[in-house]
Amino acid sequence: MDALTVNWNALREAYEPLRVPILIGTLLVIVVSLFKDDKSKIFTSNGLTLGGNEKKDRIVKPVIKPVPDSFDWKTADPLKSYPFKEGLYKLTMGIKNLDPQDYLLVEPVHAERLQLKQKLMSNSHPDYPQGKDIRKETVFYKPEAEMAVKEYYDFVLDYMCTKYPKLYVKIGNNQVLNKTIDEVIPAHTDDKTPGEDYVVHLSKVIDEDYIILQKDPSRSGEKDGDEYFFKAGIFTFAAGFAPSERFDTPLSYIHHPIPGYEDKLKPTMNRFFDKLLPFRFVTRSNFSVQTHNKFYVDDSNKGHNLSADYEQKPLDYDSLDFEKDVHYRSERQVLTKLPKSGAVVFTIRTYLIPMAQIKKEPKEVRERFIGAINGLQGDISAYKRSKEWGPPVIKYLSDD
Ligand code: HEM
Repeated sequence: MDALTVNWNALREAYEPLRVPILIGTLLVIVVSLFKDDKSKIFTSNGLTLGGNEKKDRIVKPVIKPVPDSFDWKTADPLKSYPFKEGLYKLTMGIKNLDPQDYLLVEPVHAERLQLKQKLMSNSHPDYPQGKDIRKETVFYKPEAEMAVKEYYDFVLDYMCTKYPKLYVKIGNNQVLNKTIDEVIPAHTDDKTPGEDYVVHLSKVIDEDYIILQKDPSRSGEKDGDEYFFKAGIFTFAAGFAPSERFDTPLSYIHHPIPGYEDKLKPTMNRFFDKLLPFRFVTRSNFSVQTHNKFYVDDSNKGHNLSADYEQKPLDYDSLDFEKDVHYRSERQVLTKLPKSGAVVFTIRTYLIPMAQIKKEPKEVRERFIGAINGLQGDISAYKRSKEWGPPVIKYLSDD
């Protein structure tokens, strides 16, 4: 036998006394790795769970960092919500992962938007339809959403106080001062106060609209009754539909005017809502154009508000005011799921920018936008009314 030949008998004898300790050690490593609270294993930096074999009971609240001391909300650059792409429009989910740190934003328009919300919700904005109960159209609550509303409220207050500690300042244990509008709101929920109060309080905290959706087992026998239902929230910046008509209805009904929804989006959307993991954040954005400067619009903007025999024709270029009236509109939407209630929260951040400002963007942006407008064809063009605003907007953006 040469030196390299293994003496199996000698090896077996040497291993025998170590067998039990090695076995116990291996078992211990497995057990510890299963139960230890290792955040990096659950969430990546953008809040996503890893690997696809996540366990629902291992939910970790995202860790939010304060903005730098130098952050000045009045001068900070706002996000540019330009999701348009050149080429034919395709109806897809178009979602991307979002770092939880970028979830709720305070931008230079923050105070202005919060004040606009308050005016709309109190039916007291002179530029919006008088005699219409806009509050009823924008503030929503079903008692079955109480747990979700309170869960979301506590999450948001915690988030804003942590991320913007100079703007959301704790007063004692129970109150927070939103310094951007000088309003005091509860620091957290309590059992006695009805959920509806917190729905309204949140409109003094975040300028995003937000919609809380949850399953409603009592409606499972209805059409699309197994889907998520719109159960609570604030919808002050509706872009061409009456939010009250969508309240307490399932996702498919909410989206029924969108051409192609049933075939192209419905199954994927429902699967996505069911499978969305708690505290995972995803975002999508849309774009459109409107020929006025209103944030709350329930009777125009979209083709389904027009009578069946209405023919959409290009608007007269010379009669349009691209500084005051014609606006680029984009919504930055974010979805997440709450761990306790299982509700999905959909936030909508609306950007309304005069076309004159878009004209100042680099040529690449304008060309991409023109390419996207040209890509709106058929039903989706009729839905967005791009046959009307498209030709004059393209002409305006093309002229130097
Ligand atoms: C992944 C989630 C979602 C996707 C992929 C999606 C997709 C869409 C699409 C493609 C449109 C057409 C306009 C646009 O391009 O945005 C639309 C419109 C709309 N969506 Fe969603 N949506 C989602 C979630 C929600 C949720 C949770 C609500 C809750 C209320 C909602 C409410 C609406 C409303 C009210 C409209 C306008 C309908 C109208 O014009 O009458 N969406 N959505």
